Amino acid sequence: MNTNVLNAFTQEHKQLLESELQTLVEKLKAPPNIKKAMHYSLDAGGKRIRPLLVFATLAAFGKDPKIGLKAASAIEMIHTYSLIHDDLPSMDNDDLRRGKPTNHKVFGEAVAILAGDALLTFSFEVIGTIPNEIASNETKLKLVMEMAKAAGSEGMVGGQVADMEGEGKNLTLDELEYIHIHKTGALLKYSVIAGALLAEANQSQLENLSAFAHHLGLAFQIQDDILDIEGNPELLGKPVGSDTTNYKSTYPQLLSLEGAKQALQKQLELAKQYLEKTGLTTNLLHEIADLVASRDH
Ligand code: IPE
Ligand code: IPE
Ligand code: MG
Ligand code: MG
Ligand code: MG
Repeated sequence: MNTNVLNAFTQEHKQLLESELQTLVEKLKAPPNIKKAMHYSLDAGGKRIRPLLVFATLAAFGKDPKIGLKAASAIEMIHTYSLIHDDLPSMDNDDLRRGKPTNHKVFGEAVAILAGDALLTFSFEVIGTIPNEIASNETKLKLVMEMAKAAGSEGMVGGQVADMEGEGKNLTLDELEYIHIHKTGALLKYSVIAGALLAEANQSQLENLSAFAHHLGLAFQIQDDILDIEGNPELLGKPVGSDTTNYKSTYPQLLSLEGAKQALQKQLELAKQYLEKTGLTTNLLHEIADLVASRDH
């Protein structure tokens, strides 16, 4: 596997995304403090895995990845909002995110909640601004509907609720899988779906990419759980031990660290099997999958 290809791809597209995010927020006619709070968390970095999945999925179809810029920006906004809220005292109560004090530590809880709300709502507006040469109104409607489902109570929010309600309880593996697939998997899966919709994928391509992203999302959160135990907070840019402090059910807690690592490998293999079935040029997606499973931050 030639990781230099992914490195170059990542560098180029990360830069495009980050300047798009800055421009989008800069243009808002809104009170300076809310813009500052939105910029603070958006511009703090992060791996930008979800945008990369949009771009790499488009590349798999031989399309110009740049046509995914607005969708990728919208997804990164929703993801960033979810992190701001996830860190709040009433949720995981964490002080560090993306290597900086969490949003509420700097702007206070009320502004942090509102910055999250603003990013979430803005994301839908951004999808609406995709030019018609890139996506028909019908495709844009699909993008909006799928994004709402992935982010809402049937997706990420549902997973976050189950995650909180599971604190201090002995969950079954099925219950924990529900949490992971929803709180983290849903938005990762949508990132691939958004790329596929923009590329006008056919039904079988959509199904196989969906299954790929389902297993990738699960693998991503299992590794997140593992890193909460054996990760390096300086590399992660967020504290370790947060799950233990909050009595969360996690893969390592249910299966042991070794069991969690095996479960992660199994999900990675399943993801790759579905990727093969798409018949697309999937080298970048393949590399992203490897990265997700072996990442140290
Ligand atoms: C962290 O997501 C929260 C989860 C959903 C596990 P990332 O690990 O993608 O965080 P950033 O975007 O790189 O900061
Ligand atoms: C977060 O899961 C999922 C979302 C933000 C939706 P975690 O609570 O495990 O994420 P980290 O570890 O704080 O990044
Ligand atoms: Mg959490
Ligand atoms: Mg958290
Ligand atoms: Mg975590």
